[in-house]
Amino acid sequence: MKKLGILLSGRGSNFEAIARNVQAGRIPAEIAVVISNKPDAVGLARAKEMGLQTRCITSKGKEREAFDRQVVAALKEFRVDLVCLAGFMRILSPYFVREFPRRILNVHPALLPAFPGENAQRQALDYGVKFAGCTVHLVDEGVDTGPIVCQAVVPVEDNDTEQTLAARILKEEHRIYSEAICLLLEDRLRYDGRRVVLKD
Ligand code: GAR
Repeated sequence: MKKLGILLSGRGSNFEAIARNVQAGRIPAEIAVVISNKPDAVGLARAKEMGLQTRCITSKGKEREAFDRQVVAALKEFRVDLVCLAGFMRILSPYFVREFPRRILNVHPALLPAFPGENAQRQALDYGVKFAGCTVHLVDEGVDTGPIVCQAVVPVEDNDTEQTLAARILKEEHRIYSEAICLLLEDRLRYDGRRVVLKD
């Protein structure tokens, strides 16, 4: 059985969606460990309630790579095959990325390469786009720049607020994140430069 390592910093709704799909047998893997850099992350508490292995590794005051070395050590301790960033609000060091080549996924609440970084839904509203969405991508050394595995589109309504748009996007995040995890774990993807395509 393949092992997932989930990294989160907050609410953890993407983690919960993945956990539900794992439990239901829709993702061929187990969650080996859930790691948070924030002791008070709701997602961390939920993981504990579910009886999963958890680690809190605080990032405050640590150099980026020193923190990443601790996280990588924990992921290796649990023999993690695939790392899933689920609202993990940190940029990974080149060291971390090299330790898990093509084995780190992230979900971002925008149609990348539009609106990378923080407050993606706010950026989309301010720009005035008529469609927004979310992206699951492989993590490389840049910020939200890695090869795209899955995307989903949602309309932007005239009366949308940041909250209503974020909620519409989040529903799609919950759906496509598990889809992307399955594609990767089942070795159904082929890499052609930046393009990630389905094998024949
Ligand atoms: C999600 O919308 C995720 O796409 C976003 O944070 C939220 C976390 O929610 N991530 C980023 O913006 C990363 N750049 P969750 O904790 O409920 O999964």
